[in-house]
Amino acid sequence: MERIRQAVERARGPGVSNGQSQQYTQQPPVGMPAAASSARREPVLLNGRHLESMRVISHDIADPRSKSFDMLRTQVLQSMDANSWRFLGITSPTAECGKSIVATNLALSIARQPEKSVLLVDMDLQKAQVAKQLGLRCDQGLIGVLRGKTDLSRAIVPVGIKNSKLLVLPCETTVPNSSEWMASRSMAALLKQLNRDFKNWTIILDLPPILLTDDVISILPQIDCVLFVAAAGLTTAPEIKECNKHLEATPVVRIVLNKATDTSAAYYYGYSRYGSSPAPQAKANGRASARPAGVGRSIPSSLRKLVDRLTRF
Ligand SMILES: Nc1ncnc2c1ncn2[C@@H]1O[C@H](COP(=O)(O)OP(=O)(O)O)[C@@H](O)[C@H]1O
Ligand SMILES: [Mg+2]
Repeated sequence: MERIRQAVERARGPGVSNGQSQQYTQQPPVGMPAAASSARREPVLLNGRHLESMRVISHDIADPRSKSFDMLRTQVLQSMDANSWRFLGITSPTAECGKSIVATNLALSIARQPEKSVLLVDMDLQKAQVAKQLGLRCDQGLIGVLRGKTDLSRAIVPVGIKNSKLLVLPCETTVPNSSEWMASRSMAALLKQLNRDFKNWTIILDLPPILLTDDVISILPQIDCVLFVAAAGLTTAPEIKECNKHLEATPVVRIVLNKATDTSAAYYYGYSRYGSSPAPQAKANGRASARPAGVGRSIPSSLRKLVDRLTRF
């Protein structure tokens, strides 16, 4: 009987079994700095039902919607690896475009790859979302670290569900003067520490929107690249133009056109890339490629090859 139980455990592989926490599998190298040693702690097991209710699904390969994020992951990582970039900022023109949804799902998708290590940081200091999305109760986090009250290694939480294991630096509260914190010396010191302590990690920063405050503008020079999220039916052409100006000096790895609804270009799993493969309808009509709809048209043609459509789900 015991042998059967062991065989079942083996077949399940590493990760969660019998609802019990398992040892975190991304073992950091021996002698690693204190901050990254959070990876050694037992992960907090995330609740699948809660995640689903928050539209966080990419830990579950059985969910067809996770394919969208896996495809996005592969493209983002290809660009980042090719340039040895590690800090990816996720931003949008205004709130509600889906930055946090994309950041969290992308992080879980990357975390499913056994050879990848990912740290997700909630940097939207006025509208922190990551802990809520993941169902984490946190009384320590980024603000405490910036204030010098919390040690980084204590603020970082290892989390896990199925085969996705990652580290999260949540933002435990919101602050009205976010711009000052984003431009502060303590923020610069934190980014330096992350850079030093998380050498081979992908660090995803869930940033605020670009156009509402100067939060993003002040942090852009300190990060490697950006994933830009625009929302169909919400983002306007002038907003995209304005953001483009601010992003001139920062590489944009992908543009996600989120909450897309037009069915003419709806692809398998609700995901498509402009210019890569025409929509079935477009093919049937003999047209060369699917036309970006709505806000998609306002994306400069030089950037359209970077656009991924993510439908409402
Ligand atoms: N593709 C999508 N389909 C449906 N709802 C979405 C999608 N992406 C995001 N949402 C929802 O839109 C709202 C805003 O998303 P969020 O990620 O919090 O935006 P932001 O971080 O840009 O403010 C949330 O309720 C989220 O669940
Ligand atoms: Mg958000």
